[in-house]
Amino acid sequence: MIQQTLSIIKPDAVERNLSEDIKKKFLENKLKIIKIKKIQITKDEASEFYKVHQSKPFYEKLCSYLSSGPIVVMILEGENAIQENRRIMGATDPKNAEEGTIRKEYGISIDKNSVHGSDSPDNAKKEIDFFFKN
Ligand code: CMP
Repeated sequence: MIQQTLSIIKPDAVERNLSEDIKKKFLENKLKIIKIKKIQITKDEASEFYKVHQSKPFYEKLCSYLSSGPIVVMILEGENAIQENRRIMGATDPKNAEEGTIRKEYGISIDKNSVHGSDSPDNAKKEIDFFFKN
């Protein structure tokens, strides 16, 4: 099934000029980049984006971090794009990520893990709308 998903290249990766290398990983794995923009969001916007995590102990730090510098947001499209993107990214904690994945190659820590990807069809729709509606 052809799906769309949201991908974010996080501040740690944008800052290290890794955006092109990361985009290449998606393209090599047959995901198309349908829309892309480089932006910086406020802490309030980050808090809204990550509100599913609001009860977690790391929420505050997570929102400060996502708003700490420029990010690149993309809509990716392809066969099973949601799962495919998660496979290409690798495990949340780079320490546990498989060889060849983005987080294994570029992630610094569980916080600075270089990329975000939607985890379900519902969240993909919400997250795409969050950044690309209008
Ligand atoms: P992401 O896929 O963007 O979704 C939420 C983020 O919270 C996650 O990547 C991590 O960068 C961050 N995070 C920090 N601590 C944890 C934790 N203990 N478990 C899961 N995610 C965490």
